[in-house]
Amino acid sequence: MPLTLASRLHKYQDFVRPTTPVSSGRLTRVVGLTFETIGCKAPLGSLCLVESMNGPVKAEVVGFSGENLFLMPYEEAAGILPGAKVVPQLNLEGIPVGMELLGRVVDAVGNPLDGKGPLKASARLPQMKKNINPLTRRPISEPLDTGVKAINSMLTVGQGQRMGLFAGSGVGKSVLLGMMTRGTNADVIVVGLIGERGREVKEFIEESLGEEGGNRAVVVASPADNSPLMRLKGCETAVAMAEYYRDQGMNVLLLVDSITRYAMAQREIALAVGEPPATKGYPPSVFAKLPTLVERAGNGGEGQGSITAFYTVLSEGDDLQDPIADAARAILDGHIVLSRHLADSGHYPAIDIERSVSRVMPQVTSLEHQRHMRAFKQLYSAYQQSRDLISIGAYAAGSNPLVDLAIQMLPQMNGLLQQEMHEIVPYDEGLESLVSLVGSLVEPEVAG
Ligand SMILES: Nc1ncnc2c1ncn2[C@@H]1O[C@H](COP(=O)(O)OP(=O)(O)OP(=O)(O)O)[C@@H](O)[C@H]1O
Ligand SMILES: [Mg+2]
Repeated sequence: MPLTLASRLHKYQDFVRPTTPVSSGRLTRVVGLTFETIGCKAPLGSLCLVESMNGPVKAEVVGFSGENLFLMPYEEAAGILPGAKVVPQLNLEGIPVGMELLGRVVDAVGNPLDGKGPLKASARLPQMKKNINPLTRRPISEPLDTGVKAINSMLTVGQGQRMGLFAGSGVGKSVLLGMMTRGTNADVIVVGLIGERGREVKEFIEESLGEEGGNRAVVVASPADNSPLMRLKGCETAVAMAEYYRDQGMNVLLLVDSITRYAMAQREIALAVGEPPATKGYPPSVFAKLPTLVERAGNGGEGQGSITAFYTVLSEGDDLQDPIADAARAILDGHIVLSRHLADSGHYPAIDIERSVSRVMPQVTSLEHQRHMRAFKQLYSAYQQSRDLISIGAYAAGSNPLVDLAIQMLPQMNGLLQQEMHEIVPYDEGLESLVSLVGSLVEPEVAG
């Protein structure tokens, strides 16, 4: 019998409020990181407590198959017995957030890690994220002063832009992020330290962030020894906090170190619940999650602030073709590539100007600025292309006037690109250096 409109509406109502009851169950199997339970009914993404010899273990529902529910623990699962009771926890309080959190360090689910006592929070993060209508987002139109002159003058970042910081290990990602936290004129800084070494968390907070950066920053730390679920959540918590501050009208700087570890955490979880691997062992859900995460940053609607985000992307063996690096490059509004070659020669920050690009630079800078930037790049590239010849003495002076000029101006060019770790150079100062350096090469604009 065909459904009438009324009965269709009735059916729809049924779906809005599920009638399946939530119930406790028992643990039947533990495979790797996954708990299989029987009898337990709880919604996807909800928290359950699993009975154990060492007190209840928190675990999250990550999937199901028939009557079996798959859970993944937040912490180590030692002490759990076969047949342990699994109890769903509903109506949980969200993760604390608010201005009181500035200066604090929390874990992926909002527990304080800094020993400064319990968190006082004026608000809680919503359990569900809401998407922003792309048509109501304000366009990116204002430049953001990062305090790093190579970025300000050559790769200008806009307020609300999402940038990738591509680099192998140990070439200065953390130091550069630290410089930006101290030098950026953002109202609030949210730092997600995901899957990095535990030692680095302390170093980043004490050395890179320092007191000036620390007082307007919230750090969400989920180091490598956390379970994959916590690493995944850590990153999402950092983004959700940034969203909260943006929705309060603030300009937020979000730093995620690193988004590759976030993708790896999702890979571990997806493989554990049986998703098939695709590109280099990464299951498809990884490539679905990356854009969702990245899209949450950016400008808000009218009356809201902005989230300017920097995500570090590990390019293993400095390979920019890694699937995560590839996917990230496609969804971000620009990339800064750090080069091992420059770092090895003591050129810091080791930004490879030739391979880096800020896609919103034309929208946030004057034509004059862009012409100076291009003149600098041409001069710099002219030197780089003839570098091998020059270094073995095979370049004959006078054969290319641009290369001659580049050789002469190399120290000043490097002077503009290099910056001490603790130095902060305001936007206008960096621009002035650029103009005074290559101003003579830029033809004056024809009036009218
Ligand atoms: N601007 C700078 N000036 C001087 N030295 C620097 C600068 N930036 C980085 N370095 C040097 O490079 C080293 C490595 O930097 P950093 O820890 O930021 O690298 P990383 O890419 O975060 O490494 P990892 O992949 O291990 O996290 C620093 O210990 C420091 O000695
Ligand atoms: Mg680092």
